[in-house]
Amino acid sequence: MDNITIREIKISDSEDFVIFLNIVSDETDFLLLNSKERNLDVGKEAKIIRSIKRERKSVIFVAEFEDRIIGSSGLHFNGKSNRVSHRATFSISLLKDFWGKGIASRLTEYIINYAKVIDLEKIELTVRADNEKAIKLYKKFGFETEGEIKHYFYINGKYYNAYIMALFI
Ligand SMILES: CC(C)(COP(=O)(O)OP(=O)(O)OC[C@H]1O[C@@H](n2cnc3c(N)ncnc32)[C@H](O)[C@@H]1OP(=O)(O)O)[C@@H](O)C(=O)NCCC(=O)NCCS
Repeated sequence: MDNITIREIKISDSEDFVIFLNIVSDETDFLLLNSKERNLDVGKEAKIIRSIKRERKSVIFVAEFEDRIIGSSGLHFNGKSNRVSHRATFSISLLKDFWGKGIASRLTEYIINYAKVIDLEKIELTVRADNEKAIKLYKKFGFETEGEIKHYFYINGKYYNAYIMALFI
C-alpha cells in the first residue's frame, strides 16, 4: 500500500495510539493483554512515549493511513544493565483490515534498520506457536527459533505453546 506512512511515534499521538491499542488488543488473542487488562489511559501513554523517546535503545514506529494509526512496531530495551544492553525485545501489531498488505514487513524493516543504527546485536521476541502469519513474517527477515515454551498462554480453557525467536544483527 503506497498511501501508508511509517514514522516514529510522537507524544501528540498518545490519544490515537490508545484508540489503536484498544482495538488491536481485542481483535485477536495472539497478544499478551486484551484492552481491559491493558487499562490504557492517554496521560499514562504520553508518559510511556516520552520515556521511550528518552531511551535510545527503545523505539516505536507507527503506520498511518488517512491520519489514523493502523499499525505499530516497537523495540523495548531490556533494562539498565550493561550485561544485557546488546539486545532488545521486538513487538508488532496491525489492525486486522490491514493484514496481508506488506505493512508489517515495512514496519519490521524500520525496526531492523533502527537496531543497526544503534548497534544492537540481537532482537528477541516471543510468539504463540500457532501464530502462522507472525512466524512467517519473522522467518522472512531471518529470525530463528531459539526455543519453545510449553503452556506459555492459557486462553479460554486452552493452553498454547510459544516460540522464542531472535535475529542476530
Ligand atoms: C503478524 C502481523 C503483524 C502480520 O502482518 P501482515 O500485514 O499480515 O504482514 P505482511 O503483509 O507484511 O506479510 C508478511 C509475511 O507474513 C506472511 N503472511 C502475510 N499474510 C499471510 C497470510 N494470510 N497467511 C500466511 N502468511 C501470511 C507472509 O510470509 C508475508 O510475507 P510475503 O509478503 O513475502 O508473502 C499481523 O497479522 C498482526 O498484527 N497480527 C496480530 C498481532 C500479532 O499477532 N502480533 C505478533 C505477536 S508476536
